[in-house]
Amino acid sequence: MIKTVFFTGITLAFFYILWFNNFFAHRERYEMPAQYVKIAEDVKSYAKEGKQLFEQNCQACHSVRYDAVYISSVQANPKLKTLQEKYGKVLPRDVYEAVFYEDLNALKESFGKVPPDLSTIYLVKGKEYLFNFTLEPQKVLPGTSMPAVMTGRPEETAKIVAYLKSVAEPPPEEKSKRVLMGVGTIAYLVVMGVLIWLWRSRVLKRMGLH
Ligand code: HEC
Repeated sequence: MIKTVFFTGITLAFFYILWFNNFFAHRERYEMPAQYVKIAEDVKSYAKEGKQLFEQNCQACHSVRYDAVYISSVQANPKLKTLQEKYGKVLPRDVYEAVFYEDLNALKESFGKVPPDLSTIYLVKGKEYLFNFTLEPQKVLPGTSMPAVMTGRPEETAKIVAYLKSVAEPPPEEKSKRVLMGVGTIAYLVVMGVLIWLWRSRVLKRMGLH
């Protein structure tokens, strides 16, 4: 009995931390006014405009490979089209980095490092960080070589965040499919657990142990 309570408790605590509140994960808090949170979350209304803003303000240095958006100098290179015919629109990372090494290296020479690809940055950093960092890089990451390109344009910055969210997160129908699969798996385990437990009691009874 004590064992059952103990292991059930540990299992529940484990899933609580995993799914609801991971208080071990280090997360700094960044302020983000509610009106911009609303824009950044509204992928349906703003991702498209956000993509155009990204092309105008960020693409000189950053790619979003998962969306087949490459840095401007690569985008202008006729080699890109040939490669895309061979590999599909989203080039494998090693191919991209090998073929366009010089473009990436030129950025590295100017900024000390290759500006990161932003395909999944939304999942890693979250909207509050992206909003604040993009708006005022020096304030969030003192000494960073990323220039402040969005100063005084919080609304457009929030739209860019909406675009990054749209690339990083699966679309809603895919998300609900995954939730359904998760719930299905757990329900299956519970049903099997109960059946095995019933079966075990029967076997014990037949053996005269119960
Ligand atoms: C002129 C080049 C340049 C432009 C334009 C530029 N960035 Fe950057 N960005 C950089 C560099 C260089 C870094 C790496 C900075 C570092 O690690 O210190 C960086 C890093 C980042 C990071 C990662 C920050 C982190 O914590 O690791 C994000 C997010 C980012 N940029 C977003 C943007 C967005 C959004 C835009 C457009 C509004 C943009 N950048 C425009 C050069 C640029």
